[in-house]
Amino acid sequence: MDTTSSIWLPPQSSTIAGGVDSLFDFILWTSVVFFAIVAVASIYFVIRYRRHGDIARTTPFTENLGLEITWTVIPTILLMCIFVWGFKGFLRYHIIPANATEVKVTAQRWFWSFSYADGPTTIGELVVPVNKPIKLLMSSQDVIHSFYVPNFRVKMDVLPNRYTLTWFEAVHVGEYQIYCAEFCGKGHSEMWGKVKVLPEEDFKKWLEAGSGPGEGETLKDYGARMYVKNACITCHSVDGSKVVGPTFKGLFGRHEVLSTGETIVADENYLRESMLTPTAKVVAGYDPVMPTFQGILKNVDIDGLIAYIKSLEK
Ligand code: CUA
Repeated sequence: MDTTSSIWLPPQSSTIAGGVDSLFDFILWTSVVFFAIVAVASIYFVIRYRRHGDIARTTPFTENLGLEITWTVIPTILLMCIFVWGFKGFLRYHIIPANATEVKVTAQRWFWSFSYADGPTTIGELVVPVNKPIKLLMSSQDVIHSFYVPNFRVKMDVLPNRYTLTWFEAVHVGEYQIYCAEFCGKGHSEMWGKVKVLPEEDFKKWLEAGSGPGEGETLKDYGARMYVKNACITCHSVDGSKVVGPTFKGLFGRHEVLSTGETIVADENYLRESMLTPTAKVVAGYDPVMPTFQGILKNVDIDGLIAYIKSLEK
């Protein structure tokens, strides 16, 4: 079993946990050492230089260059170590491996749901394979929540009207607690979930057995249905041809030049914004004629359409 837990922290169950803990321990013990030095010196000075009888004047004191350089240089070196170490960890935590499997996470008062592009939607249970990077694309239906799995050392805010991303790679088969780490109302303290880490074979079986937004439908296929149902098909082709609006083929991740001359990347947030506020960022060469789908598309419809657009590679 896991021997990586400590008095401070739960077992390290993801690839990044060890690095997070090493830095935490370094900062903790550095602080303990300096606290001890300052506390002992303070107590010593209080006793050594306490008032004796009538002598009220301190001895004249001029600068001590050696001492001043020492207490400037040593903390500077330590802080630079913490900065470089922390920045490396920050990059490792924020650069999502390109081969990661994506799961859509939806937070709402007061439960979590998880949708798989080629699988079911589950409530309160995130099922993942062991030793595989998992990318979480997260949004909230209502207020701000925060997705927190202490064993993985992963915590990320989950916001309404915007997607946030995080990732992890579980290193042991098992079950891990998900908490909500942002106060979100009455049920906040019970907004729990479980990450269930399975061997890859079992995960594949589980995925095949699941059902999508419809009966047995994937998020992507649901998106394809929404594409027709909401008449996106009238103005956006999926075969690369130019109709009234840009084609969806190869759209995701594409660099688009806007009518303002600015260049953007067509990512999840851009696609979402383009459905809800179509005139905010119009691609150069097209007229701003698309109606808003605010109030027409539900969040799950938008998730489906994005999954569908992502599947339409060049
Ligand atoms: Cu959701 Cu606190």
